[in-house]
Amino acid sequence: MKVRRFGVSLEEDLLEKLDSLVEKHAFPNRSQAIRYLIRNALVEESWQSDSEVAGVIVLIYDHHRRNVVNRLLDIQHDYTPIIMSSQHAHLDHDSCLETIVLKGRASMIVELADALIAIKGIKHGKLVISGSE
Ligand code: NI
Repeated sequence: MKVRRFGVSLEEDLLEKLDSLVEKHAFPNRSQAIRYLIRNALVEESWQSDSEVAGVIVLIYDHHRRNVVNRLLDIQHDYTPIIMSSQHAHLDHDSCLETIVLKGRASMIVELADALIAIKGIKHGKLVISGSE
């Protein structure tokens, strides 16, 4: 994609905040930080307007708690239109890590994530939402 340069005028204190962001995220330069901020704003916007987004839910749980596995499957089967794929990894003797890739309306994705993360026995759950394009 063609990259174009443009000038940005910023107040001193805002520029300092931009530079501390560059440092915090270890961005190679200010341009990368600005790209990051613009992308975040766009994702936030599509989330707000409930448009189509892509996302991933990451779950960690102990498979010995049998009800966890059943609940996970039951709930996911109610959301098949937005589930693209899921992957299961056996971390160790007790722990499983599951990633569920999603595409659909932001509100549906958040609803599914809330339902899964709330299952009793889930040790850790996180939703990451990204733009779908
Ligand atoms: Ni497992």
